[in-house]
Amino acid sequence: MLRRLIAEIRADVTAARDRDPAAQGVSSFEILTSWAGVQALLAHRLAHALRGAGVPLLPRLIAYLTRAVTGVEIHPAAEIGRRFFIDHGSGVVIGETAKIGDCVTLYQGVTLGGTGFQRGKRHPTVGDNVTVGSGAKLLGPIAVGDGAKIGANTVVVEDVPPGATVVGNPGHPVRVEGRKLEGPDADWIHLPDPIADAIKALSERIAELEARLAEVDGSADAGQPAREQPGIKPRTGRSSAGG
Ligand SMILES: CC(C)(COP(=O)(O)OP(=O)(O)OC[C@H]1O[C@@H](n2cnc3c(N)ncnc32)[C@H](O)[C@@H]1OP(=O)(O)O)[C@@H](O)C(=O)NCCC(=O)NCCS
Repeated sequence: MLRRLIAEIRADVTAARDRDPAAQGVSSFEILTSWAGVQALLAHRLAHALRGAGVPLLPRLIAYLTRAVTGVEIHPAAEIGRRFFIDHGSGVVIGETAKIGDCVTLYQGVTLGGTGFQRGKRHPTVGDNVTVGSGAKLLGPIAVGDGAKIGANTVVVEDVPPGATVVGNPGHPVRVEGRKLEGPDADWIHLPDPIADAIKALSERIAELEARLAEVDGSADAGQPAREQPGIKPRTGRSSAGG
């Protein structure tokens, strides 16, 4: 048990040293005592374990004190994988139902939050080897694929495919596995829906035939505007894929 704990702490400190250029050549003791992101993570690991063991109140108190000291707020229930690193710490918020994979890096000011007052799963699930730039907001029960990069100040409200680089507000992919997205196929989130298109075309055709039939048999509908069609509306708004 103690050996496992020491191994986990060592892995978390190594993650800081590997991913923070300022931590090169710095002793583990110095990182443990002065890297707010590392302290917040270790405190969270304790709070999470206590919560899992059914200890009341204490996990929340630990999270509360950690926020006061480091500026990082992690709900004790949030699940965080191995070798996680928060660079600079301050202003990070990780919600109750957030799930974070292994080798993830967050910079300051990142929010893994909900979009409103929903209950249940309402925070993001982040895959392995993901980097989230400073000030980025990931909102809702979205999935961020392995190896994705989220740019600084990006607002992400839709799933992010593995290996994608997402930037902007709303966040949209600009690279996948380092390749630039170009041309009409660049929007691969709002894919065409051939079934909806076919139903819409049939529905319009029926309305047209009904109107012509009414004209021919002189029924009450003749001359009336065609009845409103049930809406099959394409998704509106700016393409989150930037297409
Ligand atoms: C998103 C990011 C990871 C991309 O890095 P990269 O893989 O080297 O990709 P590039 O720099 O080639 O950027 C790809 C495109 O996204 C744009 N872009 C990059 N970051 C952006 C951002 N935060 N917001 C808007 N657009 C951004 C680039 O201008 C480029 O546009 P182009 O396709 O028109 O050329 C990086 O720019 C970033 O934001 N990292 C976060 C760093 C951070 O938070 N540091 C804090 C230190 S304290």
